[in-house]
Amino acid sequence: MKILLTGGAGYIGSHTAIALREAGFEPVVLDNFANSHPVVMERLAHITGQPFQLEQGDVLDTPWLEGVLRRHRPIGVVHFAGDKAVGESVALPLKYFHNNIGGAVSLLRAMETVAADDPAVAPTLVFSSSATVYGDPATVPITEDFPRSHTNPYGHSKLVIEDMLTALCAARPVWRVGTLRYFNPVGAHPSGLIGEDPAGIPNNLMPYVAQVAVGQREHLNVYGNDYATPDGTGVRDYIHVQDLAAGHVAALKALLGRGESFTVNLGTGRGHSVLDVVRAFEQASGRPVPYRIAPRRAGDVAQCWADPALAMRLLGWQARHTLDEMCADAWRWQSGNPNGYRS
Ligand code: WQD
Repeated sequence: MKILLTGGAGYIGSHTAIALREAGFEPVVLDNFANSHPVVMERLAHITGQPFQLEQGDVLDTPWLEGVLRRHRPIGVVHFAGDKAVGESVALPLKYFHNNIGGAVSLLRAMETVAADDPAVAPTLVFSSSATVYGDPATVPITEDFPRSHTNPYGHSKLVIEDMLTALCAARPVWRVGTLRYFNPVGAHPSGLIGEDPAGIPNNLMPYVAQVAVGQREHLNVYGNDYATPDGTGVRDYIHVQDLAAGHVAALKALLGRGESFTVNLGTGRGHSVLDVVRAFEQASGRPVPYRIAPRRAGDVAQCWADPALAMRLLGWQARHTLDEMCADAWRWQSGNPNGYRS
């Protein structure tokens, strides 16, 4: 029961690879290592006690992708591969439209071509989408029927791919697609051997806080404390990457079982402020996380958290880890790998 993971050596992909193997599937990792590190493959083998198959290449190479699909004959594909830095997407929109939308088109065409002459290659796909498609929600918590909008090319690319998948499923009912809208993935595998390893200065809160705690950065800049939230700082739905990985397993099982396509939020249903995260991380690490209040960051919204009821109803899935556990696992990864995979 092979499952192809595009971008499978990345942060969410690597954690999902472990969860899939533990669920009895055989993951095949496909990655070009543009946003990940080859050493992840060794870590995955160490954690699970057996190596993972790797196909090194780019999802934009459609003929190569067809060869990978013919070789492995996966019963499903999870599409993680893509760029995901909001700020970078504003500066380099073409890179995001090319890699994210072009990469998705290439994958879907390859899957359609191969599935047409090999019924074993099921047109079954789990797509890594994002809560960013909700733009600035009018209210919280957010349900899947909320209006979508985009405030940056990264979010726009996710929204366009969602629309592509909707059109494909309408034209070809044989396709089974699970679209997963991630809220804020954080944390790491409890082994501390794999985790989030952003290149350069982290855009996201948790890896930045972890680098302050480990002494790599002097202080955290809190982007605004004048939002209409309990303590004035931004509120988000932080979800443990292990819960996210379990959500992918549940999504695949649903598609391979009942077979209807769906779109669900993957969040905890709880919001935490920036200062909540700072306090929880100090507690988990035993280290101070000094911070300064800085101006608001362009594009940030005050509050964003999920109503995860649909994922529970359709997939029997819910997030289980607490913010304290997210911080403890993130700290174990960061303190054991101060320079990420480069160390
Ligand atoms: C969280 C909160 C910031 C950094 C983004 C993408 C989303 C998804 C997750 C890919 C906000 C505050 C942050 C810092 C801070 N990525 N903050 N100082 O913006 O909710 O979501 O990452 O799928 O698509 O939009 O996450 O972690 O950047 O910010 O004060 O140095 O932390 O203002 O309130 P965000 P984030």
